[in-house]
Amino acid sequence: MKITQAEATKLARKLYNRIGRAHEKIRDEGKIDSEVLDKLLKFLPKNLSGKTIFDAGGGSGYFSHLALQRGAKRVICMDISDFMLNLAKKRKKMFNLTNLEVKKGDFTKTKLPANSIDIILSIYSLPQVSDLHTVFKEFYRILKPRGSLFVASDYYEIKNKNLIGQTVQYNLGKIKLTGFMHTKPEIQQLAHSLNFFQKKFFVVKKPTGLKIDKNFKWKKSVKIHSFGAEFAKN
Ligand SMILES: C[S@@+](CC[C@H](N)C(=O)[O-])C[C@H]1O[C@@H](n2cnc3c(N)ncnc32)[C@H](O)[C@@H]1O
Repeated sequence: MKITQAEATKLARKLYNRIGRAHEKIRDEGKIDSEVLDKLLKFLPKNLSGKTIFDAGGGSGYFSHLALQRGAKRVICMDISDFMLNLAKKRKKMFNLTNLEVKKGDFTKTKLPANSIDIILSIYSLPQVSDLHTVFKEFYRILKPRGSLFVASDYYEIKNKNLIGQTVQYNLGKIKLTGFMHTKPEIQQLAHSLNFFQKKFFVVKKPTGLKIDKNFKWKKSVKIHSFGAEFAKN
């Protein structure tokens, strides 16, 4: 089933209000995405002093916090789920993160000024996006020239192009997630067509803990991979 981005955003909000707690627990235990994230964080600049960061789908603010620890002067953590935003607000209070702005919003239409962001972090927020074009266009708009988009996400190996953007269910430990299928060529061609310059793209072939739902009818023809990437605005 293909759905519009507005419907996908609603779905993301409902999903993370429901599974947020479990998601954070397995993230804290280091059981998800760790290999991709370790690599990605290695090439994210160690010194972010003076930088403005936009954490797209920032959830509990884990990576926003990390950006502040690396010296960022301003971090905007945007999410659509109230449950996740409350966790980010608690984090802000607990660690006295005065430069962290926790904002409720849809990162496909951020309302941020054009050319205002040095670095965008999109850490596993793209799996809930049905229309990648809208998101990449918005990211490109808000980035300053030569600013970078750091992404960690999944892509699917699928032969049938009609499956791009279709919903897929998968299990992550005990939690069931709904995501949208995107492919590596789709992501790279889209970034290129928007004038992003690909600085890094690496693939982790065996994503941890991801199992496509056994009821999912395309199961046999689909493989999931995790990837990390840096795209810079030309
Ligand atoms: C897998 S969680 C990752 C959270 C955080 N980036 C991290 O790695 O800890 C994905 C987050 O993206 C948010 N999200 C998904 N689609 C969104 C959208 N269109 N606008 C804002 N937030 C969105 C979800 O609510 C969820 O908190």
